[in-house]
Amino acid sequence: MSSKLSDKDITTSNALINDDSAPTVSVFVGGTSGVGKFTIEALVRTGASTRIYLVGRKSSKERMETFIKEQHTINPKAEIVWVEGEVSLLADSKRVCDVIKAKESRLDLLFLSAGYASLGGREETSEGLEVTQVLEYYSRMLFVQELMPLLKKAEAGRVVTVLGGGLEKVRSLDVDDLGLKKPGNFSPFKAQGHFLTMMTLHLEKLSKENPDVTFVHSWPGWVNTGNVDRRAGPLGFFMNFLFTFIVKPLIRILSMSNETSGQRHLFESTSAYYGGNGIPWKGNAGVNTMGEHGNGVFLVNFRGNTSTNEKMLPVLREKALEKVWEHTQEVFRPYLEG
Ligand SMILES: NC(=O)c1ccc[n+]([C@@H]2O[C@H](COP(=O)([O-])OP(=O)(O)OC[C@H]3O[C@@H](n4cnc5c(N)ncnc54)[C@H](OP(=O)(O)O)[C@@H]3O)[C@@H](O)[C@H]2O)c1
Repeated sequence: MSSKLSDKDITTSNALINDDSAPTVSVFVGGTSGVGKFTIEALVRTGASTRIYLVGRKSSKERMETFIKEQHTINPKAEIVWVEGEVSLLADSKRVCDVIKAKESRLDLLFLSAGYASLGGREETSEGLEVTQVLEYYSRMLFVQELMPLLKKAEAGRVVTVLGGGLEKVRSLDVDDLGLKKPGNFSPFKAQGHFLTMMTLHLEKLSKENPDVTFVHSWPGWVNTGNVDRRAGPLGFFMNFLFTFIVKPLIRILSMSNETSGQRHLFESTSAYYGGNGIPWKGNAGVNTMGEHGNGVFLVNFRGNTSTNEKMLPVLREKALEKVWEHTQEVFRPYLEG
């Protein structure tokens, strides 16, 4: 059993973050907006000494220069280092990992939140992969694998990936077409469930091989970040109507504040509630996907509470874990060779 969290628990824990307990080095991929950015702001506002690598594309550079200056004024002990990279491409994701590995020998926190829900058809990158699948799955998992040696050198290395932890379903995963490449097999209604289920399975495999690292798969709930406007192509009539008149007004009404989202994700990034050696947690800690306390993979909902998703995960482990792992390594092979 784990204690249910309140926002007070979360802010009380975050208030304990100081020079000794803050992540010394962190990497944010997706921190140029939304949940990642709110989490950086919450970390900076702790006043603690910390170094943050902020990975983002060229089009966000100017905006981020202003952001970095603002954050430095708020907390001069927080150093934010801009690293330019196009993370929709695996070759560039690998290059960015090499840049970080050349600068740092340890990594306390890897925070992954790039991506958006596709609302249209399959859109391929120049590498022949579907863009939202790269942002929300392949590139994130490549960052984790490539930076694992650094995460293992930290006292309590932690990965937080923001998508849909706890929402895994057997029927969401297309085991026979993991890249959703078969003609007509990509649809916005299918994609998110498929990616998030792949992510949890891939993290479980990584966790088995790297038991000293903590993995948090967060489902952020509704946060009004403009995420639904990120698709590149135009929407069809039905989707346009649905999003303009129903989904977007609902998001405006139901979303939590940016500050709340930032605090919750800072807690997920630092608290021993999720295992590891984080900010001490008194009481029953959260449970990992094996139903245990301690390190492992934590499926965390928008209130910070953990779930084991025991109806789905045993079947998925049996049926799909190795297939997801092998498929992913096959996709990575051209970029990791040599
Ligand atoms: N917000 C929600 O309510 C919600 C709910 C459930 C799940 N999620 C998922 O949680 C994750 C984080 O959500 P969020 O709302 O924080 O996201 P967001 O603010 O919309 O975007 C996060 C990041 O994705 C990057 N990005 C978007 N398209 C890109 C592209 N084509 N190439 C490279 N980078 C790209 C953005 O870079 P730029 O700043 O350069 O554009 C930004 O750094 C996403 O995967 C989202 O689907 C969100």
